[in-house]
Amino acid sequence: MTTETQRLFYPRPASIPLPPAPVRPDEERRDIVVETGPLTVELLQRLRQESGTSATFFLDDALHVALFAPEYVTQVLAKNPKKFLKGAQESAFSAAVGWGLLSQEGEDHLSTRRQVHAGMHGDILEEFTPDIVHVARTVIAEWREKGDIALVRESRRLAHQSLLRTLFRGNIADVDLDYESYATRMNDALMKSAVEGQTRQSRQDIWAAYAADRSAIADYVSDLIRAHDTSTQGEKSLISILLAGEAPSCPVQPGAGLHGQVALFLQAGIETTSSVLSWATMLLGRRPELWAALKVEADAVLGASPALSVAELVALPIASGVINEAMRLFPPLWLLPRIAVEDMDISGILIPTGARVILSPFITHRDPDVFSRPREFLPERWIDQKPASLTPGSFFPFGAGSRVCVGERLGRLNATIMLLTLAQGSPPLSKFSDFALDNTMMLISPKPSVRLRLARD
Ligand code: HEM
Repeated sequence: MTTETQRLFYPRPASIPLPPAPVRPDEERRDIVVETGPLTVELLQRLRQESGTSATFFLDDALHVALFAPEYVTQVLAKNPKKFLKGAQESAFSAAVGWGLLSQEGEDHLSTRRQVHAGMHGDILEEFTPDIVHVARTVIAEWREKGDIALVRESRRLAHQSLLRTLFRGNIADVDLDYESYATRMNDALMKSAVEGQTRQSRQDIWAAYAADRSAIADYVSDLIRAHDTSTQGEKSLISILLAGEAPSCPVQPGAGLHGQVALFLQAGIETTSSVLSWATMLLGRRPELWAALKVEADAVLGASPALSVAELVALPIASGVINEAMRLFPPLWLLPRIAVEDMDISGILIPTGARVILSPFITHRDPDVFSRPREFLPERWIDQKPASLTPGSFFPFGAGSRVCVGERLGRLNATIMLLTLAQGSPPLSKFSDFALDNTMMLISPKPSVRLRLARD
């Protein structure tokens, strides 16, 4: 390991102790449901069908409580955030990419969050919009030239390039990593270790198998930061904005803290945005008339003078409807696991200390009590219904409460620009009858084998 690599995995600060999960009693009890895992969308769908809006079960030996109703989601994420910590997810992320916002808890988390939040402010994102448009145009022109692309892989490449541009601006041309193969392996490791009951392998064994990947991402991040530091262009980047922050205890500092945050932004921002783009493209393949409407919207706004603001772009009726609806049906983070750090009663459901609490936007977003015709792709539903006016806890593709996604605006901006740019060409030639999920990963995306065929303009 290089010194830089060691700096990325700098020791985790003392964090709030996590209680062990209540374990299954030795004797057979008919009233206790035991599942063997792994935890998949299919298992949660079955539990929702058999047990209703909550399900208590042992997965392997640990007590799990799945909470599906919007009211429960709000109780956990928004009303009692200090009583439910991230637990395994937090340690998996710090093992994967180092110590950063997503994996911090308590006061450390709040102080970093304040600074990162300031860097993601709408006015700051305005400066990045032309660059994001440029990246989308360049990559999507290459897609059209090829005529036939692997949708998941190419969406990831686009999201990767776009995020790098925002984080570092134009200063990183020579830094390279085979991000696609790295991301696939890392997602696999994250899934195995971020959710208990996924595998009987110990976390240490899982991460030992991914040592080379951890090292590769550490070196990559170091190279990116070095290239950014030595740049003479003086352009403002998200990294320079974060570094200029003033919170003294905040670990967004040159050195180890910055490495962790950058690695985390890459992990958190690329996979999610590319998943939204892949699903939206596939879903639109079934609605040619919507594609045509989106093209009209794209022609009117991309290249408009004066340029639209970030707030206007992310609120475009058709693009935002398509993106919200794609995230409703296929929320990239389909599983938000937590650990209860004290006994709780949530609307009559007893949650003992240490219980593994499972929230799933995928299941809640398909609740017929919340959304009519829940399995259909109907972006129209968002024209009169804005996410903020829904019952709290019913639509949470970005999470909620004090840990809500700090990159929501950037993620929405990126997805909007990518989708509009794609819509400016002819509609896809592919029909997409197969909507199989790849949910062996932390994020759901279409199967890697899905191909997008585009007409050459
Ligand atoms: C469409 C795109 C995105 C989606 C759907 C998404 C989704 C989410 C969700 C659901 C969470 C909460 C996880 C939990 O509570 O367990 C989260 C947190 C987070 N996201 Fe995003 N995200 C997206 C884009 C981004 C981008 C572009 C970035 C940064 C570049 C980012 C950075 C983060 C960070 C740092 C957190 C942790 C926040 C905290 O714990 O305080 N995300 N995201």
